[in-house]
Amino acid sequence: MCGIVGYTGSGAKQAAPILLDSLSKLEYRGYDSAGMAVYDDETKSIQFQKTVGRLKGLYDRTHGGADLKGTCGIGHTRWATHGEPTEVNAHPHLNSKQTIAVVHNGIIENYLRWRKRLQDKGYIFKSDTDTEVIVQMLDYYYDGDPLKTITTVMQRLEGSYALGILFSDHAGEIYAARKDSPLIVGKADDAAFIASDVPAILSYTRNVYYMENEEVARLTPGAVEFFNIDEEPVQKEAVTVSWDIHAAEKGGYEYFMLKEIHEEPKAVSDTLNPRIRDGHVVIDELNMTDEEIRGIHKLFIVACGSAYHAGVTGKYVMEGLARIPVEVDIASEFRYRDPIIEEGDYVIIISQSGETADSLAALREAKKRGARTLGIINVVGSSIAREADNVMYTWAGPEIAVATTKAYQTQLIAMYLLSIRFAKARGKIDDAQEKALIDDLKALPEQIRMQLASKADIQKFANRYLAAEHVFFIGRGIDYAISLEGSLKLKEISYVHSEAYPAGELKHGTISLIEDGRLVVAVLTQPNLIKKEISNIVEVKSRGAFVMAVTTVGNTEVEKTADYVVYVPKTNPYFVNSLAVVPLQLFGYYVAIGRGLDVDKPRNLAKSVTVE
Ligand code: G6P
Repeated sequence: MCGIVGYTGSGAKQAAPILLDSLSKLEYRGYDSAGMAVYDDETKSIQFQKTVGRLKGLYDRTHGGADLKGTCGIGHTRWATHGEPTEVNAHPHLNSKQTIAVVHNGIIENYLRWRKRLQDKGYIFKSDTDTEVIVQMLDYYYDGDPLKTITTVMQRLEGSYALGILFSDHAGEIYAARKDSPLIVGKADDAAFIASDVPAILSYTRNVYYMENEEVARLTPGAVEFFNIDEEPVQKEAVTVSWDIHAAEKGGYEYFMLKEIHEEPKAVSDTLNPRIRDGHVVIDELNMTDEEIRGIHKLFIVACGSAYHAGVTGKYVMEGLARIPVEVDIASEFRYRDPIIEEGDYVIIISQSGETADSLAALREAKKRGARTLGIINVVGSSIAREADNVMYTWAGPEIAVATTKAYQTQLIAMYLLSIRFAKARGKIDDAQEKALIDDLKALPEQIRMQLASKADIQKFANRYLAAEHVFFIGRGIDYAISLEGSLKLKEISYVHSEAYPAGELKHGTISLIEDGRLVVAVLTQPNLIKKEISNIVEVKSRGAFVMAVTTVGNTEVEKTADYVVYVPKTNPYFVNSLAVVPLQLFGYYVAIGRGLDVDKPRNLAKSVTVE
């Protein structure tokens, strides 16, 4: 999704090279065009440049930013929603006098109405974007007071926005505003910054302010002020970001995705260890007594993408261990399906970014209906983290590759921990069983490392399937949940069509697509289901499929049926996803690499989906 940045400084440093550097740290969000606007002190005007495609184009066109002179500017990477990715549609957008420039992330829902109104007043629109209406509205209401004008416009905008704004008659100032799209403000001694996400400014400052909904900020070199929509000053505390910029750099790996897969053992330990105390699972941040946990009638797990897949696994584990009924929902469905939520229901929203528009809307819907809510979130201070009743952070650290790997792993861990905690409070497991489960959890980081050690074998196998056009993943129970994620990983980065099916369901239609040489990835780790799934493997084999199986060490009978077997170490069957997903992540990665694709920035995708 779009990324916005801004910089104003008092020294000799030019803004544009800094904006380019900051934008490069937001590339992971996904984009198809980019642009910058800088206030030029000599000509006393706003200069801008835009390009379609990668940031490199903007870099080349401005000679690394040198051509855009000035110490105060805003920048943008655009992920097209309204209108094609063209130079005209790229941000910044300016009024016709070129005295106001705007970059925007989000969607303005009532833009057509305002476009028409302003056109009737003689305004000429150049682009197809919803954003252009913002700059024209600012122009229409502008009376020399940026703060007043911005709040006037905010009161008339419907939808979501994070905005960076320059006014040519307010040199050295950047204005920022937000509603439902992420925006942070950074402060250094002689400079100030805005950005959609922390990594964009981490090389310059660690002092970060999180903007709340309907707030406006005024930035000048070395100073930031905040106001509410009524223009009243708001006092805010800066947060010191503790993680290092190196955590958001590639550290010798060719792609962030491979680096992040290698960080899984650490991410798992970091999420797990603080919640194990004296041999028990302790999740302080739940803020719930055993009695309250026993009072839960039903759980909803709501999420999008891979986070939804972590939720599907969570359902099996939670129902199995704690015996609480669980409904798992895709957030974009949940929010509009008029869900039946009753007293005693508990809604869990899983999200890496904490900004996914549908997940945020689902959270609000659940709260409106009276449910108690928990966010399982990776990005500290994100919207869902702030709005949920309670937050359980996953400690994966910054995840840059669009395709999630380590954050997904930590979401699984959060689900396991919750399931154990709930099972214990509800008397479904005793101390000894809790201890055995914890011992298995503690072994996971090392076992994941063992999986990573055999990545060369997976790469060799992946190289045989670079030309595959269709791949099917099958599994039963938790193995089906694993298949969902394995299939998504493959298709999102390698563009190979793939589908995941409950193994017993394939024969109800989809098996007609199985023909000679078709690759079927069968995940079979659940002891009570292995025999059943071997029968499903036989079904596809007899129609010509080539079967790669992922199973647990010791299940040697699988070799008799499957063509290629990947073994994962023994663990409690509830936790096996954490191990079995690793070869599937690596498989997707190596197929994409073999096909020469940009693994970290797959086409059409965004890391943080802040639009509906
Ligand atoms: C995007 C990402 C996925 C992610 C999904 C949900 O589609 O590409 O990797 O699983 O959003 O994101 P969230 O931040 O809510 O976990």
